[in-house]
Amino acid sequence: MKSKFMIPTLLLFAAFSLFSCSKSDFGHPPQGNGDSHLGLLPPGKGDLNLPALDPSLVKQGQQIFRYETFGDETFWTDVLQMNKVIETAVSPKTALAVGLKVDATALPAAVVTGIQNGTISLDDPQTTLALLQLNAVVGVKGQVSQGTDGKLKLDRVGITCALCHSTVDNSFTKGIGKRLDAWPNRDLNPGLIISLSPALDAATKAVYASWGPGRYDPRFNHDGLNNPVVIPPAYGLYGIPKATFTGDGDVEHEPAGPVAYWNRYVAVTQMHGHGYFADPRINWVVDYRQGDDLVTDKLPALQAYEYSISAPAAPANSFNAAAADRGKVIFLGKGKCASCHAGPLYTDVLDGGQLHPQSASVALDKEYVNRTATKLWRVSPLKGIWQHAPYFHDGSAATLADVVERYDQVKNLKLSASEKADLVEYLKSL
Ligand code: HEC
Ligand code: HEC
Repeated sequence: MKSKFMIPTLLLFAAFSLFSCSKSDFGHPPQGNGDSHLGLLPPGKGDLNLPALDPSLVKQGQQIFRYETFGDETFWTDVLQMNKVIETAVSPKTALAVGLKVDATALPAAVVTGIQNGTISLDDPQTTLALLQLNAVVGVKGQVSQGTDGKLKLDRVGITCALCHSTVDNSFTKGIGKRLDAWPNRDLNPGLIISLSPALDAATKAVYASWGPGRYDPRFNHDGLNNPVVIPPAYGLYGIPKATFTGDGDVEHEPAGPVAYWNRYVAVTQMHGHGYFADPRINWVVDYRQGDDLVTDKLPALQAYEYSISAPAAPANSFNAAAADRGKVIFLGKGKCASCHAGPLYTDVLDGGQLHPQSASVALDKEYVNRTATKLWRVSPLKGIWQHAPYFHDGSAATLADVVERYDQVKNLKLSASEKADLVEYLKSL
């Protein structure tokens, strides 16, 4: 796959994009090089020809994604003492208020009735422990026992990928429902949760508490800088050769695959699972194996599960189809969107792994990119974009209308009010 031909092409595009990204590659014919030029096809067009995923691997991956802590209890319990925090202070109401979600399908009928008729108190941390015992708190794994006083105790607690990358459909009540794996939990306030740890000093607590819901800084504990990014979706990524906003994850840096690169990064360096991560590009080696690698052999299944989840289609009647058709014309033409958001997944990263310089992002934060391995941006895929406001890596556009407004101003597109409205309808339809 990695032909000599691709390297000069990539360099050419990289050099070229330093001068201008607005010059459209849209319309170029694919150059007979398999899927390496899919990014040049019109947006939404082109067949990825991806191999079928192994269903048993996908099934294994689902268990890992939802329930695997990789042994990170040694951090969340022994170091941060989050078990004590939850046991003494976190009622279900508090848990829901910081964005934690409850898997309604894990609740026995008696518990459902008890919550409905008020005999089970949502103001009592003991109820939270009972929910953890049922394995019903999304992304949190607890080992619960009963003390001699009859009260439940939280002996160990750890976190899983689902904490940040799953939500629920609110079918029972807000925060309680069926799991929606790979949907980002933009209600979750991970920084605030971590800031409750008694093990942190006041200055560190203040940084964590400042991030706000739906945001997390996965580099703070490495470089000490502080500009969190929004939690992105983990769906719709199959076929994308580079993972993360800045394309840090690729098969060159993780043989198991681009998403597996970042899964190892997070499982080891952020969740503190027992494993190993090293990347000379960011000058970081983290070894928490303690004689036991609980991460590496789970990466292929975990990645297969993520790859199995497509971006969710826009709900019926959630956009005006006629306006969306007109908006597509703006996307391809006057808006110049398709020069970067091209190809089957609306990103030119499918064009041999192409990334863009700092100036390509119209987000308000300009610095995050410099903290990463590539120091470049990946053009974000746009399928399912209706689902995960706010937008851009820093969440600086609250709505799709704000996105369009931002591009109109920064790129001086001079779109009329109705052109902007049509473009928004098109984005809502992707
Ligand atoms: C504390 C919250 C948190 C946890 C836990 C977490 N992530 Fe993430 N994840 C993030 C953030 C924030 C980013 C964005 C980082 C970036 O792009 O620089 C991210 C990025 C990703 C991406 C890249 C998406 C893309 O567009 O390329 C994937 C995939 C992903 N995470 C999967 C996982 C998996 C699998 C796990 C468990 C091993 C996990 N995450 C655990 C917060 C989290
Ligand atoms: C020069 C290349 C380029 C052009 C042209 C471009 N984009 Fe983007 N787009 C990007 C990059 C890079 C990002 C990620 C930036 C970030 O998160 O900071 C992005 C992000 C986005 C996002 C947010 C995705 C998310 O997950 O939050 C939307 C929506 C979007 N672009 C729509 C558009 C529209 C509409 C146009 C045309 C008006 C357009 N883009 C033109 C490169 C481009």
